[in-house]
Amino acid sequence: GIKIVTIGGGSSYTPELIEGFIKRYDELPVRELWLVDIEKGKEKLNIVGNLAKRMVEKAGLPIDIHLTLDRREALKDADFVTTQFRVGLLEARAKDERIPLKYDVIGQETNGPGGLFKGLRTIPVVLDICRDMEELCPDAWLVNFTNPAGMVTEAVLRYSNIKRVVGLCNVPIGMRMGIAKALGVEPERVQVDFAGLNHMVFGLDVYVDGKSVLDEVIAALGNPENEMTMKNIAGFAWDADFIKGMGVIPCGYHRYYYKTDEMLQEEKEASIEKGTRAEVVQKLEAELFELYKNPDLAIKPPQLEKRGGAYYSDAACSLINSIYNDKRDIQPVNTRNNGAIASIPDDSAIEINCVITKEGPKPIGIGDLPVPVRGLVQQIKSFERVAAEAAVTGNYHTALVAMTINPLVPSDTIAKKILDEMLEAHKEDLPQF
Ligand code: NAD
Ligand code: G6P
Ligand code: MN
Repeated sequence: GIKIVTIGGGSSYTPELIEGFIKRYDELPVRELWLVDIEKGKEKLNIVGNLAKRMVEKAGLPIDIHLTLDRREALKDADFVTTQFRVGLLEARAKDERIPLKYDVIGQETNGPGGLFKGLRTIPVVLDICRDMEELCPDAWLVNFTNPAGMVTEAVLRYSNIKRVVGLCNVPIGMRMGIAKALGVEPERVQVDFAGLNHMVFGLDVYVDGKSVLDEVIAALGNPENEMTMKNIAGFAWDADFIKGMGVIPCGYHRYYYKTDEMLQEEKEASIEKGTRAEVVQKLEAELFELYKNPDLAIKPPQLEKRGGAYYSDAACSLINSIYNDKRDIQPVNTRNNGAIASIPDDSAIEINCVITKEGPKPIGIGDLPVPVRGLVQQIKSFERVAAEAAVTGNYHTALVAMTINPLVPSDTIAKKILDEMLEAHKEDLPQF
């Protein structure tokens, strides 16, 4: 039987993961699932862990669910390790979102200064997990969701000895579902050629039943009636002429780069009226955990779909299933470039359609990205590389360079002010600085 370890098991998304394993049990016989958390997350771990136990019991499956704060005990002989943790919890995210706003800069958990700081807090913990894995489960696959997922995958590839790592995100699934809805077809009939980076991924072409429908999708993106976004991103319609000129399909997060001003104004208003996304999520999460406590509940409640990461665990279960069964189907994941995108370094992480084999994802090469988007993707990749280096070394100057070269930060002096304030605000979670 298969042993899965989920780090950050107290996440409200865990029931989705359980649902995914239950659905696939015939092909993917999971015997042990270890949910790992830390002291601060103990209460959440217990609530969600008990719901998980009720779910497998209701399904009548012999999956043993273990709840633990001892990561090393859990990792012993694991086959797959999934990570979904949040260093500093939602309070840290709220700081990532609020501090940049004071300087008229986007405050977001994976983009701009917030993305940099989430990376600085997260990467040392991920590299620690990698060292434990080398020792305790050297053949296991690391399936990372922990944001910033692209930067984290980059750090694992370049600063650890773990080669079996895959980064995952729900944005590609979300784009596929959004496109299907706009075209009025079943999502299963839609295929998208994805390439780029995490939260910086483009659809280069789209097909329904194998026939390209790129022009229709581009027209649909310019129609304000189609809310092509994620739950956590304001869904401003794209300018129809701009998208037509670009000729590729942007993801929801591209709004931060191509509509920076509108997004900033929206964030500022929202932060006053309803709070930043972290503050909204704190309330959503409290509601979810109230539901999870109900001893009669033994399914994933539909309210989970209000979270931006809805369906992301489904991506994990599909990926694990395809690795385990050598399915060789196509899934968009974060993996080592190896020349698949010519203008990105070979040893860097990219998000791209891959053939999923028992030896892992094999990226489907695209040659190169179209010129209009190539430069932004390279700039974000440089940012991620410098940021990962700063996270590993704790070097102030490297962190300042990362902050300044991020396209959402307008100058070196503003970068320095934001950096200094955020280093101070997060110092408990940044032992390397
Ligand atoms: P959350 O705030 O519920 O955190 C999950 C758990 O992590 C908490 O119970 C917390 O106690 C625990 N934790 C914190 N530090 C830990 C550590 N060092 N070791 C083990 N556990 C630890 O977070 P969430 O909203 O469920 O999101 C979890 C993570 O997944 C975040 O990093 C988030 O950005 C990411 N996420 C990614 C995607 C994606 O598309 N890749 C989608 C949704 C969420
Ligand atoms: C999805 C992303 C995740 C992100 C999440 C935020 O858009 O792919 O990477 O972390 O939503 O959702 P939340 O509900 O926490 O704001
Ligand atoms: Mn994501």
